[in-house]
This record gives sequence, C-alpha cells and structure tokens, in this order.
Amino acid sequence: MSDGKSTLITGIGELVTNDGAPDDGKPDDGKPGAFAAMNDAALVIAAGQVAWTGPAARAPAADTVVDAAGRAVLPGFADSHAHLVFAGERSEEFVARMAGRPYRAGGIQVTVEATRAASDAALRANLRRLVTEMLRQGTTTFECKSGYGLTVPDEARALKLAAEVTPEVTYLGAHVVPPEFAADPAGYVDLVCGPMLDACAPSARWVDVFCEDGAFGADEAAAILAAGQAAGLAARVHANQLGPGPGIRVAAEAGAASADHCTFLTDDDVDALVSTPVVATLLPGVEFSCRQPFPQARRLLDAGATVALATDCNPGSCFTSSMPFCIALAVREMRMTTQEAVWSATAGGARALRRTDIGHLSPGARADLIMLDAPSHAYLAYRPGVPQIAAVWQAGRLVAGMSPPAAAAAGP
Ligand code: NIG
Ligand code: FE
Repeated sequence: MSDGKSTLITGIGELVTNDGAPDDGKPDDGKPGAFAAMNDAALVIAAGQVAWTGPAARAPAADTVVDAAGRAVLPGFADSHAHLVFAGERSEEFVARMAGRPYRAGGIQVTVEATRAASDAALRANLRRLVTEMLRQGTTTFECKSGYGLTVPDEARALKLAAEVTPEVTYLGAHVVPPEFAADPAGYVDLVCGPMLDACAPSARWVDVFCEDGAFGADEAAAILAAGQAAGLAARVHANQLGPGPGIRVAAEAGAASADHCTFLTDDDVDALVSTPVVATLLPGVEFSCRQPFPQARRLLDAGATVALATDCNPGSCFTSSMPFCIALAVREMRMTTQEAVWSATAGGARALRRTDIGHLSPGARADLIMLDAPSHAYLAYRPGVPQIAAVWQAGRLVAGMSPPAAAAAGP
C-alpha cells in the first residue's frame, strides 16, 4: 500500500499477469508482455507496486491479507481513447440514428456549443462523474482528449481540466473545423498548429487529429501532427472510422503511438499496422452505438498487428465508459478470444499509451488491479452487462468496490 504497509492478496483463482514472452513478432520494447495467467495464485502489493506474484502456497507474509476466495485478479483496464471534457448530451441524435439516420461527424458541433457555454465547474463535475464511473468499472488508467472547445481558450481550458484527472492528456484541436472557420479551413489549421498549440501543449502529452472526410485530410493531418511533435507532443490519430481513407498511413508516417477506430481497412492499412509499432486501437462501442460493421480484429491479429481496445467514451458516437462491455463486444462481434480481448483492454491500452508500468502485473508494475466477482477473465464476456468488478486498486490503494474483507466473504 502507498502508506508503507504491504498487502497480500491470496486465494486468487486466476491471476492475469500479462508477463508472457512477446509473441507478436515485434521487437521487445519492454513490458507488458503476452497474455499470461496462473491459477491458485497470490500477489503482494508494497509501495504502490506489485512486489511479488506466485503460487498461493508459497506466498510471503504481509501486513494485510485479502482472501480472494477463488476470484480472478487482472491488471486494471487501460482505456486509451476517451473524450470526457464536454457539456450536454446527444440522446436525440442516438435515437434518430437507431431509427435509421447515419452517424455524421457534424454532430460534434452540438457538443462544441454546449461545452463553450458551460462553466469550468460544470465541465469539471461532468468529467469527475465519468472518471468515477470508469474507475468503478475497473479502468485505472485513461486517456482524455480536448476537441469540444475549438477556440484557443476553450481547448486550453479542456486540457487543464483533463490534466487534473489523468497524465494521458490529448490535444484534439483538430477534431472538426468549427463553423466560424467554414470558409477558411486552412486558417483553422494554422490556428491549431500555432496559437492554439502554444496554449495547449503545456497541459498535454499527446496530439491527435480526426483524419476523415468532413474533418481533416491527409496533408492537414500530417501538418498538425508534425506541429504537435515539434512542440514535444507524441502523436495518435482518429483513422478510418467512417470510410476508407489515409488516416492509418498518416499515423504510420508520423510514427504515431496508435491509429484509432480502424473500421475500414485496406491491405495497405493492415501492412502499415503490422510493419510499424503503431497500435491498432479498436473501439467496438462506436460500431455498436452507430450500427456500423465492427472492425476486422481477426484480420489485424492474424496478420500480427498489436490491437488495443478502448471505449471512445463521448456524448456522440459512443456514450459508454465500460471496458467490460467493449471486451464482450470484441469477443462476440469481433471474434477475439477472451484472452486477446482482455490483453487488448489492459496491455494493449498500455502499449497504445507507450506505458510500461501498467497493463501487466509483474513485480515492479504499478499496482493497478481489479478483482472480479468471478473466477476467470472469461466471465467479462461470458456474463455481458453484469457488474462484476468486486474491487479496484490504483497504485496499491483500494479505490473502488467492496472492502477486501467483504470481498473475501462473498465468494464468486
Ligand atoms: O471518436 N471521430 C471523432 N470523434 C469522436 C466522436 C465525437 C462525437 O460524436 O462527439 C469519435 O467517434
Ligand atoms: Fe474518438
């Protein structure tokens, strides 16, 4: 625990460690490794980190003991794609979509108007509500984008609020061209690459661009990523969401950490994802909520791409904060195995965020972990829609779920 005391979690039915030997054919760039799990296991937390893992029968002593009573323990989820700084909601758009109207990027403007009009306090309250919602569902690391301000002060404000709750802050001034620049999209790109970037870079780690028809083209996206990189930000891209396009190529050429969505793939796109370290981040909640075909996860995995799963939590295309829901969709609709889906939601998200300290539970990792109210990781897909997160530890601190003694008493 971060208070200097150690905690032993023992009686773990299945401990998912993700510390297997790399099997993706890519250079070993550090942790996390491949999916790996052990049965009848124990884990010790000390100083906010995983201090020991191994068979329960050989567990060392610790200051506090938690009996998992046969339950599964997994790394906390790493949700590497979320838009959480916004005001208002768009349920009417969802209802219309379910009645047959297609999703269009133009809906973003509705949220931009509400966000610009909102007070800091209102934005902060909505953000914190979503963060709590995520934590209770096992998300211990999340990325958070701007993109609903689209003016210099509104983008800078969004990023400052995001930085209050996560280190994984992403500048998405290039979400769409706002209406006041409709006649001068090049002027908006100049703003995004100039004064807006200057105001935003100090609060951000990442730069992102929505590279899509109706948003930003390949040349604009490349210029925006290059400007962000020159300001010290690392790149990630919204790519190939609404149709085939240049987004994945742009991500590969920019050396981005991740190309997100990847819903429409050509052979060249798959090659680009396999032959570079760019992680393919799939967001199946979007396809669910927009009634689109799901991304071809099998095609990517079988070709050797690294796949992450994330929620894309936002008020338009997908308003879920639930990584378990995304795992269930990935298994049922995208034919990922339960092991692949859990890896992608933990280690895959860590890779997409270039983090080596999370997404796995080997000694030295940050003690971000979840205990399921179930005996194995498979239950996340086997029991879709059922709350199964019994407890959540973040950097060794119990932050959500029932208290450990109660968790021990209930049994799976
Ligand atoms: O990732 N694609 C662009 N941005 C979001 C949607 C934002 C919205 O609809 O408000 C996405 O799907
Ligand atoms: Fe998004």
